[in-house]
Amino acid sequence: MGQVICIDGPAASGKSTVSRAVAKKLGILYVDSGALYRIMTWQALEHGVDCSDAAAVAAFCETVNVVFEVRGERVAYLIDGEEPGDRIRTPEINAHVSPVSAVPAVRARVTAWLREMPQLGDLIVEGRDIGSVVYPDSPYRIYLDCDADERSRRRLAEDIGKGFQVNQEQVKASLLNRDRIDSSRATAPLKKADGALVIDTTNLTIEQVVDAIAKVFRP
Ligand code: DC
Repeated sequence: MGQVICIDGPAASGKSTVSRAVAKKLGILYVDSGALYRIMTWQALEHGVDCSDAAAVAAFCETVNVVFEVRGERVAYLIDGEEPGDRIRTPEINAHVSPVSAVPAVRARVTAWLREMPQLGDLIVEGRDIGSVVYPDSPYRIYLDCDADERSRRRLAEDIGKGFQVNQEQVKASLLNRDRIDSSRATAPLKKADGALVIDTTNLTIEQVVDAIAKVFRP
């Protein structure tokens, strides 16, 4: 079984950019756990499931099948043989993913998938509960923090790049709303895992954060 570097933190704190860069630098696999919650949400919406109905979401999530495949330096997710791509990164999915990911049955299914992945090799896994719940025994548990205004600026730049019509106030409100739901849910809330290394990325470059993480890893 491979080792796991766990990266947790609020939305737009730099987890994806940093985790991809660490994967490349160390030659390990990048795993995006949020994408699995986004896939659940996307599939629920596609099938007309009411995302605010926890019982309906719980029943539906058992029917979702995802195939995992190593593609370069990442684990890719295939639904009916295809990667979902940006279909899981729309404002609509952003608005529904936190309530869907608060459903215990959804979390149980995604957590079980994630716990199988070290069979593929050494991993860096980003999410909200990776060091606190999914792999609490990993020696590499990192929490990335970042000021909310800086996070909104980063996410706004990404969203505009994708052609979405949004402004900074809307982006900030959406991020803070997700933080509130992600941090206050009963099952596996976003929190700093005991003993996690906390890195505040607000005033750091990507390279500085990547170096700080890469230097603690012992292959
Ligand atoms: O990292 P992201 O923005 O793609 O994550 C989307 C949502 O999924 C996020 O609002 C909360 C949820 N999530 C979670 O509850 N646990 C994880 N390990 C990863 C994501």
